[in-house]
Amino acid sequence: MIELTHTISETAEAIRQQTAEGKTIGFVPTMGALHEGHLTLVRQAALENDFVVVSIFVNPIQFNNPDDLARYPRTMDEDIQKLEGSGCRQVFAPSVAEMYPEPDLTEFDFGLLDKVMEGKYRPGHFKGVAIVVKRLFEIVKPHKAYFGEKDFQQVAIIKKMVQMLQIPIEIIPCPIVREADGLAMSSRNARLTAEERTQATLMYKALLGVKENYSWFIPAGVKQLVTGEINESPYFRVEYVDVVDTATLLPFEDWNEAEHAVVCVAAFIGSVRLIDNIRLY
Ligand code: PAF
Repeated sequence: MIELTHTISETAEAIRQQTAEGKTIGFVPTMGALHEGHLTLVRQAALENDFVVVSIFVNPIQFNNPDDLARYPRTMDEDIQKLEGSGCRQVFAPSVAEMYPEPDLTEFDFGLLDKVMEGKYRPGHFKGVAIVVKRLFEIVKPHKAYFGEKDFQQVAIIKKMVQMLQIPIEIIPCPIVREADGLAMSSRNARLTAEERTQATLMYKALLGVKENYSWFIPAGVKQLVTGEINESPYFRVEYVDVVDTATLLPFEDWNEAEHAVVCVAAFIGSVRLIDNIRLY
């Protein structure tokens, strides 16, 4: 049975009781519109912890585009149903007023980590993410928190925040969960038309293609190749393709300059903005 709480005090108290009994707490923060990707995180959290908390909160301060915030799917009843049997024991679903009784003015210095890729195209996004995750961590006080690697840059920034603020929580990045045709699962996929949904698989195909063949090119060549392949579809408009070092998230000129590399993509298909990535090595 899942307990649903809306206030910070009842949530913190329910979790405190579990911790007092010596239970370990696993936490999966979400913005709802749950899909198999989220449920995979919850199941992993349930395997590794005694008590699993999921938060459902569409965080307004991480949306740089008001239309995107307005159109973000909100499906609380279905979400709770999907969580039944997943191992989740508590859902924390606060209101905006509960989370932000007054504006949170916290500033973070992530160096260049939040200036590139998503940070460049979605100004203020990561500040909003860091503020809400820090706040959720303070309320839930989990031992481990689970994040999907589709948001590769988000995971890097949250790890950095935890390290900078010395928050004693283990961040567990989890592999991207994909549909049968390769499209990365995302709450935004629900907004694709049938035709766009068919075309959307091209993004992963382009990434998979360079994973096989990247060593024939320089990193800038891979960037060009993936951009060209995706933009070939009249449905797509690439915002960025970057080949970056997994540690710094910065581009580099030669493969021997980065110990591990990932290709990250953001592209619009119609009005829906999708992101994806693939590790090269
Ligand atoms: O990845 C998300 O869904 C959100 O950015 C998160 C981590 C729940 C913060 O609102």
